[in-house]
Amino acid sequence: MSFPEAPSWRRFTSSRESGPRPAPYLIGAAEVDVVNAALHLRRPLLVTGFPGTGKSSLAHAIAHELDIGPVLHWPINSRSALQDALYRYDAVGRLREANLRRGRQQTEPGIGNYVRLGPLGTALVPSNRPRVLLVDELDKGDVDLPNDLLTVFEEGQFEVPELARLPEDESTVEVLTDDPDDRIPVVRGRVRCAEFPVVIITSNGEREFPPAFLRRCIRLDLPEPNEERLRDIVEAHLGTAALADIDDLVREFLGRRAPGELATDQLLNAVFLRKGGVDLEVSGLLDAVLHRLGRMV
Ligand SMILES: Nc1ncnc2c1ncn2[C@@H]1O[C@H](COP(=O)(O)OP(=O)(O)OP(=O)(O)O)[C@@H](O)[C@H]1O
Ligand SMILES: [Mg+2]
Repeated sequence: MSFPEAPSWRRFTSSRESGPRPAPYLIGAAEVDVVNAALHLRRPLLVTGFPGTGKSSLAHAIAHELDIGPVLHWPINSRSALQDALYRYDAVGRLREANLRRGRQQTEPGIGNYVRLGPLGTALVPSNRPRVLLVDELDKGDVDLPNDLLTVFEEGQFEVPELARLPEDESTVEVLTDDPDDRIPVVRGRVRCAEFPVVIITSNGEREFPPAFLRRCIRLDLPEPNEERLRDIVEAHLGTAALADIDDLVREFLGRRAPGELATDQLLNAVFLRKGGVDLEVSGLLDAVLHRLGRMV
């Protein structure tokens, strides 16, 4: 048996980030207006909606549309801290290297090799072309994180104290960024954006955000796709031929879909399998693919 080819949305080549988008992103005119408002106002876009409604994909679609990829990705969990997203300083690694080199009578390593900007820090690096920053699932984070973010979003800058206190002849230091192999000069330890980045914050609504935070965001609630949009998404991902003989799958999907209980990509999975000649009716395979979300015990 040969190893099957992956669906386009489960391929992990570098082109997924920076090259052509695997499939077009389908979005209604009303939603486009909201995205444009956030771009014009230079405000973060807070995107809510049920699982699989395309919240995270929207960031990649915007980056592709504006040709400002790759997206800087900050996935949030309960341990996520603002500081780590701005920069990390590996003091221990530097000390170890310095000791090694001293033993070999070599010069000590430059501090810039041990300062790496995180996704938020990299998004604030001055450039004429703003980057897209995806703050994914902010509602999974600590309760204070939205407020911590506010200050940086308001000021568009932050300081790296370890660099700020270096002597005058070391006022410019090249540091690492969230982009592999990239370095940027930081002057006197201050990083200040030239253009506010395109910030997409997603939330599954597990936590309410404070009013002071909400006030500074533009809000977009992505609706669950209707039947027509679903067919368009299938066509965009799998081609026009994939639309033939899927009426029963779409019906099944819509029939099972209580609000928030089925994600769009579950239908894509079902259509992909059928296209590959898999009989979904056998041995509960359809239940395995179109299983309702939020019902796991
Ligand atoms: N409007 C759309 N146009 C094209 N593809 C879409 C759209 N909405 C969802 N998809 C597809 O569905 C899949 C899930 O989308 P995505 O991961 O962006 O959802 P999400 O809202 O971030 O879900 P979660 O809350 O679980 O993180 C992706 O493979 C994406 O390509
Ligand atoms: Mg997501």
